[in-house]
Amino acid sequence: MTVFGVDAVESAGTGELVVGAKDIITPLARELARERGVRIVVATARPAAPLASANQATPVGSATSNGSTHPSPAPVTPVFTRSSSNDAHTPPAPLRPPAPALYRRGAPLHPSVAPAALHQPRPRRPEGAGTGKSVKRVVVVGAGHVGMITAMKLAEANIIEEVVLVDIAEGLAAGIALDLTHSTALLGFDTKVRGVTSLAEAGSADYVVITAGRARQPGMSRTDLVEVNAAIVGGIAREAAAISPQTVLLVVTNPLDEMTHHAWRASGLPAERVIGMAGVLDSSRFQALTGLAADSSPSAVSALALGSHGDEMVIPLSQARVGGTTITAALPEAKVTALVDRARNSGAEIVGLLKSGSAFFAPGASAARMVLAMATNSDEIIAATVRAHGQYGIADGYVGLPARLGRTGLREIVELPLAADELAAVRTAAARIAERVADLERTSAPS
Ligand code: 2OP
Repeated sequence: MTVFGVDAVESAGTGELVVGAKDIITPLARELARERGVRIVVATARPAAPLASANQATPVGSATSNGSTHPSPAPVTPVFTRSSSNDAHTPPAPLRPPAPALYRRGAPLHPSVAPAALHQPRPRRPEGAGTGKSVKRVVVVGAGHVGMITAMKLAEANIIEEVVLVDIAEGLAAGIALDLTHSTALLGFDTKVRGVTSLAEAGSADYVVITAGRARQPGMSRTDLVEVNAAIVGGIAREAAAISPQTVLLVVTNPLDEMTHHAWRASGLPAERVIGMAGVLDSSRFQALTGLAADSSPSAVSALALGSHGDEMVIPLSQARVGGTTITAALPEAKVTALVDRARNSGAEIVGLLKSGSAFFAPGASAARMVLAMATNSDEIIAATVRAHGQYGIADGYVGLPARLGRTGLREIVELPLAADELAAVRTAAARIAERVADLERTSAPS
């Protein structure tokens, strides 16, 4: 089984990328392939038993069940084969294509998929072979809803050897980890998932995602959480850096901007390895809401949410597109303004609806997305809360900016040609964050 990342798509140029039925294509590679028009073709081994056309798994980009003109790719020798018997002389039988549909307990079995086929042991890797996964361990601190979703998305990407959930509540992380492990065969990943009650038990990590802390309740602002969460985040950051001096911290806990600064101070790590997750979440909210308003797919909306994770969030419309056009050409200005406001307040909107706790699906997916961008050395420009050193005229301080992330955290802050008012708004956000950080530092030395 091979993992195809963005580099495989890049070397495919504008042609096609031929993959095996069992190979994995990372989400970033799929996105890049879509952007570049690279067809992902699943090479077929020798024809297996015919599947009912209704269930025919139509691999991406290959001949479709309606007999379209796409030529089927040349069959390739499957990577892993299982001999029908154990003797060395019987030619190995080709791998069966994946079951045409996920097997649901009690669902009628498709005649071509014998019960045993659903529970075939995975082909054993040659002894001593590595797992082929590019990242050894990611630790997610806090097994609340956000931490749970983050761990799940990271595991499903199947490019990390082990994801470890940490929570002080006895059994919580272990229970969630075991539950996630029960889905490995179903979801087709073999990343190990473990749950422990301390960072020490988790062990050293390439990345540590900090989601632990109090979530806001209705009527609270993110800033109301600063005292209690600074103590939690500061302690975690300091211990994580002591256990893994080379790690990258990704902070998710609110108030995000202040907590990212506080984690940097408490950990003593270089600023490039302490990053906050907010812009990916806010950008995704804006894309989703704009897609709905413009009756377009959210993935056709490109926009970056910069500034703060809160009232000073800035979406530079000069950089926002719907399909190929600028957003202000695609939608009336008043509508766009309303969409920016709604995206900025989406966190509070969900808190108001849930009545207890805050959003977790999109925040968890956003945190995982950032770790995967780092793990795959993605070349994309992503909104991240990073420490500026003069970029955008911001002398010093954490603020949401366009960035490129790599294996060891922040690779570069990308200076986009913002309009004058947009640049002023980002600078104002940085100044407001700095004021709140100064307040925090006055009341709590790094814990
Ligand atoms: C949000 O905006 C929790 O900060 C997160 O929903």
